[in-house]
Amino acid sequence: MGTFEIKDNIHWVGARDWNLRSFHGPAFHTEQGSTYNSYLIEDEKTVLVDGVYEPFTDTLIEHIEEIIDLEEIDYYVVNHAEPDHSGSFPATMEKLRDDVTVVCTASGKNNLSEHYGGSHNYRVINSGDTIDIGARTLSFLEASMLHWPDSMFTYIPEEKLLLPNDAFGMHLCTSNLFDDQNNKALLMEEAKKYFANILTPFADLVVKKLEEVQEMGLEIDMIAPSHGIIWRENPGAIIEKYAEWGVMEPKNKAVVVYETMWSSTELVAEKITEGLIDAGVEVKFYRESISEKNDVITEILDAKAIIVGSPTINNVMIPEMTPLLEELEGLRFKDKIGATFGSKGWAGGAAARIADRLKTAKIDLVEKPFNFKYVPDEAKLEEAYQLGQKIATEIETAIE
Ligand code: FEO
Repeated sequence: MGTFEIKDNIHWVGARDWNLRSFHGPAFHTEQGSTYNSYLIEDEKTVLVDGVYEPFTDTLIEHIEEIIDLEEIDYYVVNHAEPDHSGSFPATMEKLRDDVTVVCTASGKNNLSEHYGGSHNYRVINSGDTIDIGARTLSFLEASMLHWPDSMFTYIPEEKLLLPNDAFGMHLCTSNLFDDQNNKALLMEEAKKYFANILTPFADLVVKKLEEVQEMGLEIDMIAPSHGIIWRENPGAIIEKYAEWGVMEPKNKAVVVYETMWSSTELVAEKITEGLIDAGVEVKFYRESISEKNDVITEILDAKAIIVGSPTINNVMIPEMTPLLEELEGLRFKDKIGATFGSKGWAGGAAARIADRLKTAKIDLVEKPFNFKYVPDEAKLEEAYQLGQKIATEIETAIE
């Protein structure tokens, strides 16, 4: 065994990837593994919803065969064709009947063709389309750019069940896959990390999609995403969090992230932080080279200010700062303010360079780059403290 029922005659048939430590190449560190959740719906018609990452194809097939013969599958719904869900597609299709119908968006069809080739019996859907499978109905809602052009949600009104693929998911592998069987704080932290690192660029679309779902009056008593746990006890909790994260409502909070060479930049980072804390700001403090970039990004989601520092080396910043700054540009956080700082020996350049990168990431700089030579003296440390206090005032004004 290994499968389990999430509703009567609807089984989880996915795979647990306990050892996954990075996702999207090295971009997303997944210290707690992940799952690829697939679902099998038995009705007058039999439906497979989503697949798994290619190395887990045999697990998917074994799980399905615990319940039915593969030839019984009539519809294969592909909510999203990224390889973590579609890697098993070619091998699975070889085992299904020739007339099985692949259900996806137009973009999904293109993506499957461009990834895997082959000729299949596609049914391309648009939002509002439905398929009667007997006692139940599959109802589809396109969710383009949440987070690929092909993304869609499948909804089963008779079960009040939403199968939204990546949305509402998280990278977490556990033995028990329902929300009520896990630590709720951990679930929300992992869901927030997933949102911050993957969905931030599409936050406005998340808000619009939630409004659309609300206007449609969809009743939802279970959300079964394709990563991590299934929300059955309180699906409203994760919907509420998505609404909050989608608008990026900032808290009285700053993230200080820096690198240091001979501790001068670190001393200034600490003084800026002291100024912020004394003014009542919540601070998250990270030395870049010993911190998880994904954790820094997660904390930025609900912070108002990002304060970044590096010493100058060869007229530029320490190169290890680059991945975070590159991520900030791509993630396009909304309505953040920022400041930069860094030590120099002679020519300098790091703080200004970071400032340029933050501007490119559309972060509104509230102070000019704060530079200091070699080792900050008492006067410079006092200036750093005052910089923290000034940023605190800017935060307070901005979130009022
Ligand atoms: Fe889980 Fe966008 O793939």
